[in-house]
Amino acid sequence: MIIDIKNWSVIHTDGTKAITNMNLQIEAGEKVALVGANGAGKSSLITSLVGIVDGVGTCLIAGIELKKEKLDEIRTKIGVVFQNPDDQLFMPTIYDDIAFGPRNLGVDEETIKHRVEDRLRLLEIEHLKDKTALRLSGGEKRMAAMATVLSMKPEIMVLDEPTAFLDPKARRKLIRILKDLPHTMIIATHDLSFAAELCSRTVLLKQGEIFADGKSEAILQDDELMEAADVESIAKYLNYK
Ligand SMILES: Nc1ncnc2c1ncn2[C@@H]1O[C@H](COP(=O)(O)OP(=O)(O)OP(=O)(O)O)[C@@H](O)[C@H]1O
Ligand SMILES: [Mg+2]
Repeated sequence: MIIDIKNWSVIHTDGTKAITNMNLQIEAGEKVALVGANGAGKSSLITSLVGIVDGVGTCLIAGIELKKEKLDEIRTKIGVVFQNPDDQLFMPTIYDDIAFGPRNLGVDEETIKHRVEDRLRLLEIEHLKDKTALRLSGGEKRMAAMATVLSMKPEIMVLDEPTAFLDPKARRKLIRILKDLPHTMIIATHDLSFAAELCSRTVLLKQGEIFADGKSEAILQDDELMEAADVESIAKYLNYK
């Protein structure tokens, strides 16, 4: 088990209970969609996994218990592409943003250069290398943020709303790239057809609790279940298109 969460609660500093007594186990290599209405707790769960917000309970990431003194180690195992890509692009160029993490770990420049170029190629964004994030489109920022995470060689990738800002072609490209990556993935998304295509398992959240957990094809098409969690089922969602 690469992620093992027991009795996990996340309470924000203003007292908002975002996650309540959650139990969740994820095996290495699984791609899990995290689905739920606005405010269901997806981003709170994700940010708690890397210690950005505090959680109470037990959380093991790649066998390491999530605690303040272990955060540096945990962050080499799990990489998060945040809901807002501006949160992770802050260097003068995209090259430097992608190099930032490995540089911090003391990786030598030659290795970094190869690694950055490899990630730029993988995500098909070589042309963004010398640009500054300030001048990128929303979709370009999303891909650049993914490259910064991949440059850390994480075992687990967590993506919060990865298809937001992507045009249909870029969205299709992202699905193709993510399908080919061997990483364990947790993907928070409102894009249900994206979830269905990429993730064999879906965890449906409602008001900070797991409302359903199982095969994506079963959960996402279950009209009653989805509506009870205040989310539209995929059948309805597709009919609107
Ligand atoms: N930093 C914060 N401080 C206080 N409350 C917060 C904070 N972040 C989130 N919350 C609250 O926690 C609850 C869960 O929010 P969260 O952002 O985790 O939901 P979400 O499922 O990611 O929603 P969305 O689909 O809109 O991204 C909400 O009630 C929200 O208002
Ligand atoms: Mg969110």
